[in-house]
Amino acid sequence: MSKKHFLKLLDFTEEEIKNLINLSAKLKKDKKLGIEEKTLIGKNIALIFEKTSTRTRCAFEVAASDQGAHTTYLDSSGSQIGKKESIKDTAKVLGRMFDGIQYRGYAQKSVEDLALYSGVPVWNGLTDSAHPTQIIADFLTILEHKGKLKGIKLAYVGDGRNNVANSLLVGAAKLGLDFRIVAPQNLFPEKKLMDICYKISEKTEAKLTFTDSIEKGLTDVDAIYTDVWVSMGETKDVWEKRINSLIPYQVNNKAMSYAKKNAIFLHCLPAFHDLETDIGNEIFKEFGEKELEVSDDVFQSKNSVVFDQAENRLHSIKAIMVSSFNN
Ligand code: CP
Ligand code: NVA
Repeated sequence: MSKKHFLKLLDFTEEEIKNLINLSAKLKKDKKLGIEEKTLIGKNIALIFEKTSTRTRCAFEVAASDQGAHTTYLDSSGSQIGKKESIKDTAKVLGRMFDGIQYRGYAQKSVEDLALYSGVPVWNGLTDSAHPTQIIADFLTILEHKGKLKGIKLAYVGDGRNNVANSLLVGAAKLGLDFRIVAPQNLFPEKKLMDICYKISEKTEAKLTFTDSIEKGLTDVDAIYTDVWVSMGETKDVWEKRINSLIPYQVNNKAMSYAKKNAIFLHCLPAFHDLETDIGNEIFKEFGEKELEVSDDVFQSKNSVVFDQAENRLHSIKAIMVSSFNN
C-alpha cells in the first residue's frame, strides 16, 4: 500500500519507501523474465515537462507502455501551461482527461497544486527543491550493490542544497543511513530541512553529518554521490562562483581514495565529466576546467554504477505509478 501522490519523500513513511524499492526490484525482475503483469491497461498519463529531461521522460514513457498505459507529452513551448493558463486551471483540465499526471518544473508549489486541483495521482519528476523519484532508483542501486541500506555510509559531495541533495537527505534520514553532505557551508541544505531530518533520524537511527571537510565526510564510506554544480533553472552567471567554491569537491581518484576500496560512485546524470557536451565545452573555454563534479576516470571506473542508476529510474518510476493506482 502506498499513497496516491508522489510529491516529496517527507510525505512517506520508512515502510512505504521500502515497499516502493522492493516493488521496483520485483518489476525489474519480472520484466527481465518476461512475466511482467500489466496493471495500467487503458490509463492515460500526462507528462508535463517545463524543464528538459532524458531519463525521467523516457522512464515514464517506457514504464507506462510496459504496463499498458498511454502517455501524452506536454512542454511549455507547445502548451498553454504557465503563459496563458495557471497551474490550477491546467490541473482541472488535465484531471478531466487523464488518470495521472507527471510534473517536472520549477516550484514545488506547482506540483503540490496539481495534486490539489486535478483529482488524479500526481508524480514529482523534479522541482527546484526535490527529486524524489530519483532517490527510489538510487536506493535500489545501492541495495543491489551493497545488499542493504540501513547503516550504509553514503556521502553526497558538491552542491549540498540542490533538489537531489535535499531528497537524498530525507530518504537517508527515513531509511537509517549514515549520510553525509560534504560541501562548503554556504551550500549546506536549508536549516529547516536539516532540523526536520535530524528529528526523523532520532527514530530511524540514521546518522546525519554536514561537513565541509572532504576527509571527514568521505573516510571509509560505502558510496559517493555527486550531481551537477549548477542545476536547471539557475542562471548562467552562477557558474563562476560555483566552480570556484566546488573545484575542491570534485569527485576524482583522490576523493575516492578516502572511501572503502569497493565503494561505489553514483550520479543521477547528466554529468560533466568530459568535453563531449556543448555546455562542457563552453565551461572549458571560459574557465579552463575539462571535468567538473566528477573526473572522467572515476565516471568510467569499475566502481561507477551510474548506468545501473539510470536503468533503475525505469523500474522505480514504474513502481511509483503502479502503487499510486493501487493505494
Ligand atoms: N536524473 C534525471 O532526472 O535525468 P533527466 O534530467 O535526464 O530526466
Ligand atoms: N540537480 C540537477 C538534477 C538533474 C537530474 C538539476 O536540477 O538540474
